[in-house]
Amino acid sequence: MQNKTVSSMICGIGAAVPERILTNADLAKMVDTTDQWIHERTGMKVRHIVDDKVQNSDLSAQAAKKALDDAQMTAEEIDTIIVATVTGDVRFPATACYVQEKIGAVNAAAFDISAACSGFLFGLRIADAFIASGKSKNVLIIGCEILSRIVDWKDRATCVLFGDAAGAAIVGPANNDGRGVLGTFIKTDGRLTQLLWAPGGGTRFPAEVALSENMNSIKMKGQEVFKAAVTAMGDAAVHILEETGITPDEIDLLIPHQANIRIINATARRLKMPMEKVFVNVQDYGNTSAASIPLALTEARQKGILKDGDICVMVAFGGGFTWASAAVRF
Ligand SMILES: CC(C)(COP(=O)(O)OP(=O)(O)OC[C@H]1O[C@@H](n2cnc3c(N)ncnc32)[C@H](O)[C@@H]1OP(=O)(O)O)[C@@H](O)C(=O)NCCC(=O)NCCS
Repeated sequence: MQNKTVSSMICGIGAAVPERILTNADLAKMVDTTDQWIHERTGMKVRHIVDDKVQNSDLSAQAAKKALDDAQMTAEEIDTIIVATVTGDVRFPATACYVQEKIGAVNAAAFDISAACSGFLFGLRIADAFIASGKSKNVLIIGCEILSRIVDWKDRATCVLFGDAAGAAIVGPANNDGRGVLGTFIKTDGRLTQLLWAPGGGTRFPAEVALSENMNSIKMKGQEVFKAAVTAMGDAAVHILEETGITPDEIDLLIPHQANIRIINATARRLKMPMEKVFVNVQDYGNTSAASIPLALTEARQKGILKDGDICVMVAFGGGFTWASAAVRF
């Protein structure tokens, strides 16, 4: 590993998951599918779905409070809130504004970013850069999605894949004890927007038009997305190793975006990582988009899989297409 200046570190993490569970068997009663098909093609068994009245900012605030507790910090100490999401409470203002109010982070500037499933790692890069430049001290990043509100529950090719969740991290200045954000990488290919998107509600398909043209839900070309995800996640993983000088042997834990067990396996193979060092919880939550990585981080820590001093490499891919990676010593 190269000896580079480390500016920021993750000082606290937390996650929030709705209690209600939707199993593959439940889905088989809603669309023409089976537990076997879903499990074999995706690795998923169950996903969690919010109750009707729960908003993105409610789940986000729950995760944020847990991350603050974990960091032993108060909300007043946060100066920047970034919510990575494609399923915000309203079109504007930013969901981050609602989160600020709900947790009482009165000293923060708050804004959202949209990078789909790569959103949390895009947020980590922003936080690291803000802290390195001295523009921020304590940044709260949240990845939260309520995808159950924008999936087409009649489309078996997409509705089985997604779940709701939030994950949060507090990023603060590194304290020179070796822990910290060792590197970040983000990338986009805007030529491929229409392979995975939720067209309704923007300027192209305003709400009423979207309804009449059946454009109000997630649209996906599954096989193309699959192939692109395998290539991009592998590329992002290789890139972060080259940039930081970390070798695959030095990685204690690989946390890939939890979209599909076959994509996760392919990413591990590309790095020649044994699966014992790869965190997988796609079976329990499905694809929770921007929440996937901070949720996995939190669970890995709670289960004792991610330990103090460990080097963790995180890799994501999402609509846009966007892809990203980061290496962090905890
Ligand atoms: C969606 C995905 C699981 C589908 O698996 P696949 O092996 O590519 O399957 P295909 O799309 O080729 O479909 C094969 C058949 O299964 C059918 N099928 C699709 N969804 C099904 C379901 N839930 N249950 C049963 N059959 C289903 C298709 O209609 C198709 O039937 P046909 O051959 O009669 O036309 C896979 O493409 C995938 O994971 N893509 C990436 C999705 C993703 O990760 N998106 C988010 C990125 S962040």
